[in-house]
Amino acid sequence: MNSRFSVPEAELEKQREYAQLVKTVLNSRFPLSPPKAFVHTYGCQGNVADGERLQGMLMDMGYEFTDSPDKADFVLYNTCAIREHAEDRVYGNAGALKPIKKSNPDLIIALCGCMTQQASVAERLRKSFPFVDIVFGTHVSYKLPEFVYRVLCTGMRVIDITDSEGNIVEGLPVKRDGTFRAWVPIMYGCNNFCSYCIVPYVRGRERSRDFETVLNEVKELVKAGYKEITLLGQNVNSYNRDLPEEKRFPALLDAISRIDGDFIVRFMTSHPRDCTKELLDVMASSDKIAKHLHLPFQSGNDRVLKEMNRHYDRKKYLSLIDYAYSVMPELSITSDVIVGFPGETYEEFKDTLSLIEKVKYTSLFTFIFSPRPGTKAYDMPDDISREEKGRWFKELTDLQESIAGNRTASMKDKTYRVLVEGKAKGEGVLSGRTEGNVIIEFQGDESLIGTFVNVKVTEPKTWVVYGEYIG
Ligand code: SAH
Ligand code: SF4
Ligand code: F3S
Repeated sequence: MNSRFSVPEAELEKQREYAQLVKTVLNSRFPLSPPKAFVHTYGCQGNVADGERLQGMLMDMGYEFTDSPDKADFVLYNTCAIREHAEDRVYGNAGALKPIKKSNPDLIIALCGCMTQQASVAERLRKSFPFVDIVFGTHVSYKLPEFVYRVLCTGMRVIDITDSEGNIVEGLPVKRDGTFRAWVPIMYGCNNFCSYCIVPYVRGRERSRDFETVLNEVKELVKAGYKEITLLGQNVNSYNRDLPEEKRFPALLDAISRIDGDFIVRFMTSHPRDCTKELLDVMASSDKIAKHLHLPFQSGNDRVLKEMNRHYDRKKYLSLIDYAYSVMPELSITSDVIVGFPGETYEEFKDTLSLIEKVKYTSLFTFIFSPRPGTKAYDMPDDISREEKGRWFKELTDLQESIAGNRTASMKDKTYRVLVEGKAKGEGVLSGRTEGNVIIEFQGDESLIGTFVNVKVTEPKTWVVYGEYIG
């Protein structure tokens, strides 16, 4: 364990005691049936994994869960700060709680996560959202029991956005959202400071969980019947970067792929700077590792990449892709891309289009640059209008749509192993995903949900392919 970052056991024990104290108070206030909590997480899977721990702590405190804030006694929004739009949604949804709190003054409202870690946001919530009872940041989330106890006992607001390098908290209770897909964080924080990105400011320094702890967690999940394990980190390729090779990410992935059982493992996100041939070789070596690589490139132009502080260039990126396809011809590659970075010209943007054409992504997450206060890019001159960026964006998404359409068209008549995820629209229709992360729909019995099945593609569309269940 990386002791520089670990939270002392005594501190966690204290929180467990607070959880029991909260439980006692709640038992007396809700003698007939347990109080209900509504938890909603915004943002990336890393945040979702945090949300599962927040739910675990609430469960320990005696809460049950509801899917509607108006039925809740406790509402928690676990927020994201990655783009302005993400924050606006939270302000909107938090504002909508005001009348609910009016009709139920005992309702406790809490906001946490990346957005609230920012001092300016916490200040705005303090001033303009007086009905929010608890505001806490990413570094103190394990103190949720203490915060709830303080509010229950004193009725006073709690605001704690203590900044730190970050920590690693092991042993928190987890209430997972799924029964066959599980998120496993392997590292937290980020040291890259890409010039547009808020994450390093709100998540602290990069730190890795212990190799054996992660391995054991995955073993337990597989034993419990989980079929898809996704390893999470902002830059998984730098997992245990300071340790010998046998503790780094390719070794971890390799060790996980050797666990007995019927499951697949995915990971995200890979940073192209730290992605190695060795990692791609490990991916190619095992059927347990999904042939899917999420490798965000952000821009296809070297000057823009430099301004973004990404530390790789187009050539290096494309050579990784070439190698990846050479060892895994069926590989499905997805990526993130930013349109309209400050100072980007249309000519430079065309390099992004040509890169997309070369790589032939299965799908892309496309974003128009959003200035984040406190980041370097926030202060960069940006004179392309929003409308113009919107036109570029449309050009990009149109291009990707035709590439994705061609890719899915080539799936016709082939058979894929699919993890069935749930029901889709339509009588008896199920939905699942291929290893390559393509959504596939077919007729089948509900009992197949959570299992691997083989599906033959009959009718590929751009974003979803239809097929028939063949066992
Ligand atoms: N750690 C991952 C990215 C996590 S954030 C990586 O480095 O690849 C997910 C995506 O959000 C980023 O890849 C980027 O495309 C997008 N993003 C981050 N900050 C943004 C901003 N300020 N404006 C627009 N998109 C942004
Ligand atoms: Fe943000 Fe860059 Fe870190 Fe990804 S690698 S989280 S984009 S700073
Ligand atoms: Fe958002 Fe924080 Fe994830 S800013 S994308 S929730 S790390």
